[in-house]
Amino acid sequence: MENKLDKVKRILAQYKQLHLLDFVGALTIEEIENLLNQFESIDFEKMRSLYQGSVSNGKEKLSNHRDISPIHCDVLNNYNELKQKKFLEIGESVLGMGKIAVVTMAGGQGTRLGHKGPKGTFNIGYPINKTLFQLQNERLKSLSEKYKRWIPWYIMTSGEAHEDTIKYFECNNYFGYEKREVFFFQQGALPMLSFDGKILLKEKNEIYFGPDGNGSVFHSLKRSGALEDMTNKGIEWVFFTGIDNALVKMADPIFVGYAINSDVNAASKSVPKKHPEERAGVFCLKESKPSIVEYSEIPEELIRMSNANGQLLFGDVNILVHLFRISELHKIAEEGLPYHTVVKNAACIDRNGKKVEVSSYKYESFIFDAFKVLDRVAILQVVREMEFAPIKNKVGEDSPETAVRQLIQLERI
Ligand code: UTP
Repeated sequence: MENKLDKVKRILAQYKQLHLLDFVGALTIEEIENLLNQFESIDFEKMRSLYQGSVSNGKEKLSNHRDISPIHCDVLNNYNELKQKKFLEIGESVLGMGKIAVVTMAGGQGTRLGHKGPKGTFNIGYPINKTLFQLQNERLKSLSEKYKRWIPWYIMTSGEAHEDTIKYFECNNYFGYEKREVFFFQQGALPMLSFDGKILLKEKNEIYFGPDGNGSVFHSLKRSGALEDMTNKGIEWVFFTGIDNALVKMADPIFVGYAINSDVNAASKSVPKKHPEERAGVFCLKESKPSIVEYSEIPEELIRMSNANGQLLFGDVNILVHLFRISELHKIAEEGLPYHTVVKNAACIDRNGKKVEVSSYKYESFIFDAFKVLDRVAILQVVREMEFAPIKNKVGEDSPETAVRQLIQLERI
């Protein structure tokens, strides 16, 4: 009968991935076993078709452009005080009834920031001296105190960051949050590929897996039992955010009230684009459905198009703050989302067994693709300086320094 190694060799030969066994001769029996086990989770056919998609991406993009048109966004500050108060009251009553849960998507690799460990454990620095998890925790805690009930908090992690994240919360006694209301769940992962379609090795006995994008959140919520947990708790609306916006208004009651008042199934926040060339995804209609077009995908002529008032037609930036009716989450988890090709740096093992940094293809699904499955989506434009301070890079734009400066300006120290 064919042994495990021979079976793997046969499959790798079929998919032109035999290089993954280049170092088997230098590995212990245990390490070989470990490597062979990792192949079991790889769908090679799927990887081949994803790679083919990356190679023919250019052609797809051109045809997609014809389907992009501007989308209507409501502007928070265009609502008068009375209306904003109404949104607040609706949101507060729903929070008070315990019908809101929060999901933090903290499973990204944080390659650009280069922090060792989960991105949420990054300390944003002097004079704030708090980690990204702490900032979110404090805001949720103060809402919980105000509405006299703990807001269930679901934290998505990936790979080895999962255990590290739990340890971090344990060691810090959940920063005073009610432990029973914090639920950690893990997202999926896919192998990363070289530009010529070869699966990368992170170590001689370890495949290079990368988290499969924040769109993984729907399926992962369902698979982990978190969605069921929310349903059992009587949750009606779920607030989603990334981990790296130092100014995020957690479970913002005004936003919740706005969504309910608009009678939609999902809502998103946007901020105005700083300038046409800002490298950010913007809201649009794609094939008549709400969507987001990435900076790299939007055609030149659309970037600068503006209306009679000089406002950019594609000028509402996605800040990864979304709200979904819980009933819709089941639907999206069933449907599944498409994968996008993302180019990222990866420190991998080359053919000579040396660690090298290469550009690679990574496959991610994006949370906003869920809008295609929904009927009614509303977008609320908020003030950038008040709500958006992303930490993406070590230095320069969107860095800890810029975020801390914004927090200081708002006296949020
Ligand atoms: P980014 O797209 O900015 O990626 O994630 P990143 O992985 O954090 O950083 P880089 O690109 O490697 O430097 C936006 C948000 O989505 C989350 C991230 O944690 C961040 O909050 N995310 C991203 C996930 O939860 N899972 C993923 O697979 C990707």
